[in-house]
Amino acid sequence: MTSSATGHGRAELDPEAVVASAERRVATVDTVADLDDVRAELLGKRSALAGARQALATLDPGARPEAGRRLNDAQRRIEELVAARRRELESSERAARLHAERLDLTEVVAPPVSGRLHLVERTRDELEDVFTGMGFVVAEGPEAETDWYNFEALHMPPAHPARGMWDTLYLELGEPETVLLRTHTSPVQIRLMQSQGPPIYAVMPGKCFRRDTPDARHIPTFHQVEGLVVDHGISFADLAGTIETFTSAYFGSDIHARLRPSYFPFTEPSAEFEITCTICKGSGCRTCSQTGWVELGGCGMVDPAVFSAVGLDPEEWTGFAFGFGIDRCAQMRHEIPDMRVLLENDVRILRQI
Ligand code: FA5
Repeated sequence: MTSSATGHGRAELDPEAVVASAERRVATVDTVADLDDVRAELLGKRSALAGARQALATLDPGARPEAGRRLNDAQRRIEELVAARRRELESSERAARLHAERLDLTEVVAPPVSGRLHLVERTRDELEDVFTGMGFVVAEGPEAETDWYNFEALHMPPAHPARGMWDTLYLELGEPETVLLRTHTSPVQIRLMQSQGPPIYAVMPGKCFRRDTPDARHIPTFHQVEGLVVDHGISFADLAGTIETFTSAYFGSDIHARLRPSYFPFTEPSAEFEITCTICKGSGCRTCSQTGWVELGGCGMVDPAVFSAVGLDPEEWTGFAFGFGIDRCAQMRHEIPDMRVLLENDVRILRQI
């Protein structure tokens, strides 16, 4: 009698020998997927047991029940062997998966590198704090403006020579030269006066754009903070006092500041305010073009023509406005000889400022 476990069904197959061979075979399998293949091999349609079952018909009828019972026993025992091995394999595969996916919470890792706001953003926040501390509110306006807000409402009709003070970048939108990247934050004054009536005590920070050639004190995309006060009985003394309070709050009380007469079409009288150059302490250097002074911004009393453009009665209302460079303030406070570094994104410099 043969005891082949894999040979095709023969009536003389020894079921116990098939079980013994299956036991050895199942023990060598080490993945659930391989076990499924081995099960098909041992119990499937082409297995030795299936062949023997078919061959039962060829046996003597008296021998068939006993042979059939032995085949059924063998089948059941092989099923049990496969099921037991499946439990073992599933449990060890689950343990391996858990081990691979575990998180070691005691592991020491380098602390994450955290970024921080750029110096110009921090300066903007600090300036807003200074002015909100003085009772001002913060407002904003669009960076793409119309010619009317950027120039006309500010008392600069088309072809007004003062427009040449700002090298303008026009956008190809609508009629030629009607939409532009704002050259200063002063158009936000107009929007604010239109959208809310006096009294107004507001600062308006934001980005400005000019076709300026970059140098130690100029970059083409820079930031200004505009200030506007409109109320009854506002005088130039209020403007001077506000600027002095701001400069000593931001730069410290020993900073040397001065107002110099100047010209802006939308303020009358107008002035520029300057501080002693913090790079050379006033002795003259490349940053201040050897003058010892650096201009932070322009200011003045709101021109009656501007009140008229927004429908406010110039006989009733008085006000002052100012606009100064946020990048320029940061440059002076942090003693940065060349403003262009603010745009270069060199991490060695960004880490220091
Ligand atoms: C103006 O832009 C006026 N709108 C200011 C003003 C507002 C006057 C309200 C009166 C009333 P000016 O062009 O001088 O003025 O610019 C003001 C400040 O912006 C400058 O003093 C400087 O600090 C900053 N600034 C101007 N151009 C640049 C630039 N290219 N790069 C960096 N900062 C600049």
